[in-house]
Amino acid sequence: MTETSSNGVVSYDVEGGVAWVRFNRPDKRNAMSPTLNRDMMEVLDTLEFRDDVGVLVLSGEGSAWCAGMDLKEYFRENEAKGLGATRQAQREAYGWWRRLRWYQKATIAMVNGWCFGGGYGPLFACDLAFAADEAKFGLSEINWGILPGGGATKIAVELLPFRKAMYHAMMGENIDGKTAAEWGLVNESLPLDQLKARVKEVANVLLQKNPVALKATKDAIRRVSEMTYENAEDYLVRAQEAANSFDNDGRKEGIRQFIDEKTYKPGLGAYDKDRVKA
Ligand code: COA
Repeated sequence: MTETSSNGVVSYDVEGGVAWVRFNRPDKRNAMSPTLNRDMMEVLDTLEFRDDVGVLVLSGEGSAWCAGMDLKEYFRENEAKGLGATRQAQREAYGWWRRLRWYQKATIAMVNGWCFGGGYGPLFACDLAFAADEAKFGLSEINWGILPGGGATKIAVELLPFRKAMYHAMMGENIDGKTAAEWGLVNESLPLDQLKARVKEVANVLLQKNPVALKATKDAIRRVSEMTYENAEDYLVRAQEAANSFDNDGRKEGIRQFIDEKTYKPGLGAYDKDRVKA
């Protein structure tokens, strides 16, 4: 059953362990207004620790994934109210993207259409990203007279090689899903009518993994990118030891099913996490 956020601008269904969350302002191409940003935080809050949610997928209603920040409600109206209002709107937007970057559950961006500017915030916040070939990605900020703010410049540099990041940000040209995949903005691109089936397939694989190990892994990938090798080595030892305190039996069971029981091979798939030796 489809649920909606307090103001109706985010919708979601939970089905088979997956929370299908959608930007729900199709008439405004899912631009992020302050209301949407507040509603999205509310929905992330609602879903994060639910036992029936193992993976969260973020997509958009209608023809857009997300047309970036709402130029009227986020920029113009807040600027008219003064610096305090602008800062509050920034906190609300950046706040849910940050929440999503460090979300307890695995996350997938399913980019069904337009993805512009501020939309790169949630795009990067999701662990994985799959796009429709028909989707269009752009740092359109330069076209209306600002720099790619709200993290978008940083995201371009994180995900793209220098020359591509510079071209993308300076030219304000769009790329399609296929090019986004070639450039590394998303994992894969496929025809829109196949997108959901592929994302479901990926989500189902993730659902079979040990959830403590999955959370530790996704955090580690983000954290180590800004560490020296020595610091990363140390962090990873400590992160695994911390994970053990949440789930000491999981990895032991993983070893047992391979070495003693010989019921699976870790090189070929995950152990059966729902079956733990009594
Ligand atoms: N902020 C505010 N409103 C937006 C918006 C945004 N980022 N993106 C779209 N809308 C609104 C339009 O103003 C229009 O509102 P209206 O029906 O009240 O006139 C409605 O959404 C539909 O937009 P429209 O431009 O007619 O749709 P389209 O399908 O022809 O074009 C886009 C889609 C995404 C190419 C186009 O809307 C666009 O360029 N949006 C701005 C993208 C952008 O630069 N975002 C970066 C912000 S950081």
